[in-house]
Amino acid sequence: MGTQAALELAADKLIFLMNTEGVPDKGRTIHNALTVNEARQVLDKAKKLPEDVTYYLPCAITACTQGVKRAHLISRHRDGALLSELFTREGVGTLITPAPLETLRPATIDDVGGILGLIEPLEREGILVRRSRELLEMEVERFLVLESDGVIAGCAALYPFPEEQAAELACMAVSQEFRGRGFGERLLAEAEKRGKKAGFKKLFVLTTRTEHWFEERGFVDSSPDHLPKSKQALYNYKRKSKVLQKSL
Ligand SMILES: CC(C)(COP(=O)(O)OP(=O)(O)OC[C@H]1O[C@@H](n2cnc3c(N)ncnc32)[C@H](O)[C@@H]1OP(=O)(O)O)[C@@H](O)C(=O)NCCC(=O)NCCS
Repeated sequence: MGTQAALELAADKLIFLMNTEGVPDKGRTIHNALTVNEARQVLDKAKKLPEDVTYYLPCAITACTQGVKRAHLISRHRDGALLSELFTREGVGTLITPAPLETLRPATIDDVGGILGLIEPLEREGILVRRSRELLEMEVERFLVLESDGVIAGCAALYPFPEEQAAELACMAVSQEFRGRGFGERLLAEAEKRGKKAGFKKLFVLTTRTEHWFEERGFVDSSPDHLPKSKQALYNYKRKSKVLQKSL
């Protein structure tokens, strides 16, 4: 009934108030978000689901496959559940969406504002080298972005040095509120994959404060002398950046 009404209204959101907190995962917690495909797998594979989940989850799937952008399964017993679900990033129940909320993709000119918002605080702290909007607009096709629910949560850029069959991984950043969820790792893996596909044999990175993060992910100590010639000319000795590299 609710599902039908949402479809007739071409609703953006459909909210189910249940007796349980959401769709349980394998542990003692609930899934924060599921795509329609993941939700189908839960229905297929989960051994024992609460009765109202077996009732409402298929409704959420139907809604999301027929035009509703989001379906929320939340507890009707929790004070403020609706506000928390709709106005906090994590929410309190389970969100069902037609497609994944996070996408890792090449940046477009429309991402420039989002990338600037992400990197400007790090530029102010001296962690990243400053880039103007104009420069970013010119170089945006070198960037990858990780978008989470419409927000640019992370970025990384690959600058090619074809003569040396090398690429610089630069301007890698994950917004503070998204750190520690593996976004950095995903950006790095994608940059490595793209670098390899483009025929580069090594990736190098210049960093003032993040060497350990890169070392833990296979980068080794190098030096400015080993940088591609044109990069050496631009190396800023005052910044005292560490040069690290990784074979692809
Ligand atoms: C480096 C950075 C991109 C990692 O992003 P992230 O999405 O948090 O990374 P992941 O979730 O994949 O990895 C997080 C892990 O790295 C660790 N980590 C984060 N920053 C680190 C650093 N500077 N040195 C060592 N480890 C670090 C975290 O403690 C966490 O460890 P855990 O999994 O054991 O808890 C992010 O911290 C950042 O934007 N830093 C500022 C910009 C920067 O320094 N860029 C590099 C220069 S180009």
